[in-house]
Amino acid sequence: METCRQEKRQNKLNIIVVDDEAVIREGMRRILAAEGYQAETSADGRTALEKIQEQDFDVVITDLKMPGMDGIEVLKTIKILQPEVPVIIITGYSTVSSAVDAMKNGAFDYIAKPFSPELIIDKVKKAIDHKTLMIDSFSAKQELGPDHGFDGFVGESAEMQKVYRRILQVAPTDSTVLITGESGTGKELTARAIHTNSLRQERPFVAVDCGSLPETLLESELFGHIKGSFTGAIHSKMGLFKVADRGTLFLDDISNISLATQAKLMRVLQERVLTPIGDTQPVPIDIRLVVATNINLRAMVTKGTFREDLFFRINVIPIQLPPLRERKGDLPFLIRHFLKKYSGEIGKEVRGMAPGAIAVLKAYEFPGNVRELENIIERAVVLCEGDVIRGNDLELRSVEEERYLDLNSVPLSLEELKETKKRLRERATEPIEKAFVINALKRNNWNVSRAAEATGMLRPNFHALLKKLGISIIEEQKG
Ligand SMILES: Nc1ncnc2c1ncn2[C@@H]1O[C@H](COP(=O)(O)OP(=O)(O)OP(=O)(O)O)[C@@H](O)[C@H]1O
Ligand SMILES: [Mg+2]
Repeated sequence: METCRQEKRQNKLNIIVVDDEAVIREGMRRILAAEGYQAETSADGRTALEKIQEQDFDVVITDLKMPGMDGIEVLKTIKILQPEVPVIIITGYSTVSSAVDAMKNGAFDYIAKPFSPELIIDKVKKAIDHKTLMIDSFSAKQELGPDHGFDGFVGESAEMQKVYRRILQVAPTDSTVLITGESGTGKELTARAIHTNSLRQERPFVAVDCGSLPETLLESELFGHIKGSFTGAIHSKMGLFKVADRGTLFLDDISNISLATQAKLMRVLQERVLTPIGDTQPVPIDIRLVVATNINLRAMVTKGTFREDLFFRINVIPIQLPPLRERKGDLPFLIRHFLKKYSGEIGKEVRGMAPGAIAVLKAYEFPGNVRELENIIERAVVLCEGDVIRGNDLELRSVEEERYLDLNSVPLSLEELKETKKRLRERATEPIEKAFVINALKRNNWNVSRAAEATGMLRPNFHALLKKLGISIIEEQKG
């Protein structure tokens, strides 16, 4: 019984069949639907590609010979847009050589006409099984996992390797480390890794979130106070500098501290002694300082909101964490890691992620980086109805919806562009402007006058926008 239900659940995968012959198209659709798949059809390559960009498909089955855009072109385009989605080619008996050609271009498999329903189902199953990211099917290399030897970190990209190397280099020293990176890139994880790989690992790691405490509270938290030193100081309190004695003090979100507190911090770091509020007796401190920020401190220094001397004092060894969108090669590792974590925690048997869903994640920008990916996967595990996560389970749009830029949301007119920019509240508008301009040019055969007209802009204005964005039509056409 259980197996039966699982079969059914698992089959709710999306397949698109592209063929100009209605009989084949419909025949395929019926065979796939009978097996429990959601099957869609398209009579030509162009509309198929439109559908593929609108909706996630887990398998594409396409005829080779079609009027207009042929199957090879469909295949090549999918390999660019969504390389993880398997494409199965349908070929006539006389076109076996073109099937070989298709395989060279990245087709997963081919089906020669005439075909039996069993053959189709067999090939589709193979394609899905092969391309689904399974939690439990580790290849030998993946089984070993990240080989840098510290906990919590996943990802083997060159960018992350650089981070791991840097962590291992600085960990054994007492140098102050400044960790920068967008929200959710792993700054706290990095701070902890520095501590656990340091000689201070047996001593406390104390994290202070400078952004969440009001100024006076932050000061007494950091430096401590003695009983009666101010209203409300009923007991003496040991400052976190002292709590972290001979350990590591992690000041998170340091851009949030006021200039007054910055001055006090500067003095403590310089003199390596600390006088608790209300006290007169300075006490020596021995801490390793690690600091994190997602704000450009240099710019704050220029503006006068961050002390220059403090900046130099903390910017000894910088570690810059790359945003997730710049290391998408790590996605499969991270996806598998979080799927495993949450299917275990939630107690729901999820076996993996379907090709269409992986394609959706690969196209996403992740403004919230790894933390956002983690949340997306946790929610998908909770909400999914099958035992494989599908594109529809991801609900990316509800996460920072306004910042999600995909091909379907590129504005077509100046009016729409203005609307979109308003929605973005002027944040990260450049990518959408670029997409807008390039999309308009593409749709108008790279003719600037016509692209301008189509968007409702004057040609000089359109041209000025091109210049502002640094877009070269020749370069774009090549790419
Ligand atoms: N490389 C990574 N591998 C695995 N998990 C990661 C990685 N980077 C971050 N995470 C996870 O993502 C979440 C966010 O990480 P962390 O709190 O370290 O980010 P942060 O940069 O401090 O974010 P914020 O700026 O919002 O405070 C944590 O659950 C962390 O375990
Ligand atoms: Mg943090």
